[in-house]
Amino acid sequence: MSPRPKKKQPTTKKAPAKKAPAKKARVKKASAKKAAAKKAPSKKARAKKAAVVTASAREPAPAGSVKPAVLVISGPNLDRLGKREPEIYGDQTLNDIHDRLHRLAQELDAWTEGRQSNHEGDIVDWIGSASDEGFDGILLNPGAYTHTSVAIYDAIRGSSLPTVELHLSNPDARESFRKRSLVAPACSGRVAGFGGDSYLLGLRGLLAQLANE
Ligand code: DQA
Repeated sequence: MSPRPKKKQPTTKKAPAKKAPAKKARVKKASAKKAAAKKAPSKKARAKKAAVVTASAREPAPAGSVKPAVLVISGPNLDRLGKREPEIYGDQTLNDIHDRLHRLAQELDAWTEGRQSNHEGDIVDWIGSASDEGFDGILLNPGAYTHTSVAIYDAIRGSSLPTVELHLSNPDARESFRKRSLVAPACSGRVAGFGGDSYLLGLRGLLAQLANE
């Protein structure tokens, strides 16, 4: 018997190897990537920028004016007012409150500047430099830092400015951990439980304190 003719083995056709991009193209791609990375602000920088809400910026001081200037600082999570637990904190946004404050300040012949940060260090820095920045007093809602921050207590003690502690809710009527305020002993007054109006009442109180100084 003659040997069976050998079956032609199917050839496995390999996909042609992907050609590596030319060096020139690779360099171009890498530098485009680098440039994009350079342009886009880092996640950290974006987060920090977003955390600071500055509303109702102070109007330029008329020359020789003696209007009292008040720095209004709100702490963590207060940038989410309006969305955050409205049954506790109400439906006004922080910008709404800053705008109302600014209008009241104008009526009372004063200025306000509103700032917000989720970061303890920003709040410490703002309190520490408030006097050098030309402010006469501070309205401060430290948010949850009320109950934890020795650093903010120290900053208030170290600034020469009267500082009024503010809260939208009444922390004394809530969970037991909210009953302790570490900042209260450093403050010249406290307003709590009136929603956004706490800020307005606080401004009236602070201006009365400044007038009596
Ligand atoms: C708050 C009360 C705090 O206990 C809480 O952590 C806040 C808001 C208020 O305004 O009612 O964030 O400061």
